[in-house]
Amino acid sequence: MSSSSAGAFSTRTRLILIMGVTAALAAVSPIAGLSTARAADPTLHQLAAAKGKYFGSATDNPELTDTAYTAILGSEFGQITPGNSMKWDTTEPTRNTFAFTKGDAVVSLAKSHNQIVRAHTLVWHNQLPSWVSSLPTTEVQAAMENHITQVATHYAGQVYAWDVVNEPFNEDGTFRTSVFYNAMGSGYIATALRAARAADPTAKLYINDYNTDGTGAKADAMYNLASSLKAQGVPLDGIGFQGHLAIQYGFPTNMQANLQRFADLGLDVAITELDVRMILPRDATKDATQSTYYTNVVNACLAVNRCVGITIWDYTDKYSWVPSVFSGQGAALPWDENLAKKPAYTAIFKALGGIVSTSSPSPSGPSPSTPAPPTGCKVVYSASPWTEGTGVGGFTANITVTNTSATPVSGWTLRFSLPSGQTLTQSGWNATYAVSGQAVTATNLSYNATIPANGSTSFGFNGRWSGSYSSPAAFTLNNVTCS
Ligand code: G3I
Repeated sequence: MSSSSAGAFSTRTRLILIMGVTAALAAVSPIAGLSTARAADPTLHQLAAAKGKYFGSATDNPELTDTAYTAILGSEFGQITPGNSMKWDTTEPTRNTFAFTKGDAVVSLAKSHNQIVRAHTLVWHNQLPSWVSSLPTTEVQAAMENHITQVATHYAGQVYAWDVVNEPFNEDGTFRTSVFYNAMGSGYIATALRAARAADPTAKLYINDYNTDGTGAKADAMYNLASSLKAQGVPLDGIGFQGHLAIQYGFPTNMQANLQRFADLGLDVAITELDVRMILPRDATKDATQSTYYTNVVNACLAVNRCVGITIWDYTDKYSWVPSVFSGQGAALPWDENLAKKPAYTAIFKALGGIVSTSSPSPSGPSPSTPAPPTGCKVVYSASPWTEGTGVGGFTANITVTNTSATPVSGWTLRFSLPSGQTLTQSGWNATYAVSGQAVTATNLSYNATIPANGSTSFGFNGRWSGSYSSPAAFTLNNVTCS
């Protein structure tokens, strides 16, 4: 088992340590209540980002008019996947006529919330317009390459990853006999990946499938394909494990080891469509089992350095695909149909390193007292910046302040200047932030107002950078410069 700090941003994550000690990246203070979030709770993505991963959700265009839904979608997740709007039947419904409006809407939404996009999907046997299915075999390759080129070029530079080929295998590990396989044999996969790379040199290129999460014939087939493609130098960057699980079928066998063997081929791995369905009605026992499954998936990803992140297949039962396909089943997601958090949410929160307290919540807000200066303090500022294009990106900053004086600090204000080009994008966690130009003032909440003698407190925020990333150079605690 290895730690996961490289993960999603392995080539671009930097850990900046100021003044000394190694920081604990998961800078999360206790939250109150088992399932009720307060403003200061870290989001699932913040927790995941502190471990070098993203946490995301699928979404779909019809849902985007639901403002209660989009508020959570925009704030809780660092990555989104369009559930339908980049598929072939949407993007090229008739030959050589392309439609990007719906996909563009998802990309635009992601940009407005500083989220990365997993684009889904270029070559799939399903949701394929009939004009493709009825092409003479001699025309399929040209049509496929044209589709990939047009769509991937349109989104080039705007998406983190593409599911280039989706669901190429049958359950027994043989290749699915799609129109693409029938025309080109299994070579269609390499051809598709090469076309995608030519169209978008920066997106991570994936093959994605279901029932490959644990070891078995289908996962073995994917492994053999991935090995072979890597050996041939085909541009393949990652394998997506959809993670459509069901509590009545048991948890996938050896999931962590299965992910790890793909990572050992030099590939990223990602959980791309996670949900855990149950036979309805939902009850506490089923919820508990479901929570265990979510915990196990998060643990498996955290344990594999090259597991870059987890995407749930939409976040709420309100918009889950499950009930319409599996009659009598559902309740598969961490938020219920009223957008209330379920035990599965708390399980994910905890598995990602969130600390759940059962004590009563203290009202949050800045301390009204006038803070006394400490005689000494130390600041560790840990940032995980990532790049989304030339000279631009986002970052998650975790700050740990240690009171090195012999007496407690009761009420605190930390001040620092963000380097030029940087902005806060979220209100942050475990502190109240005020920003004036580049000057940032972080003030305690009531529950973390006291920093004991030689004790520490941690808080953080998300931001954007441009130019090149650097960390703030100096900090004051209650107007005393930290050493
Ligand atoms: O857009 C039409 C609408 O006009 C029509 O009134 C309605 C009537 O049924 O259908 C709508 O299309 C539906 C579409 O979702 C958009 O909502 C299709 O019927 C429905 O089949 C389609 O389901 C999607 C499914 O893929 C198709 O296979 C799900 O939303 C989507 O979540 C699901 O996602 C797949 C991944 O792409 C691949 N892995 C499995 C995963 C779950 O099946």
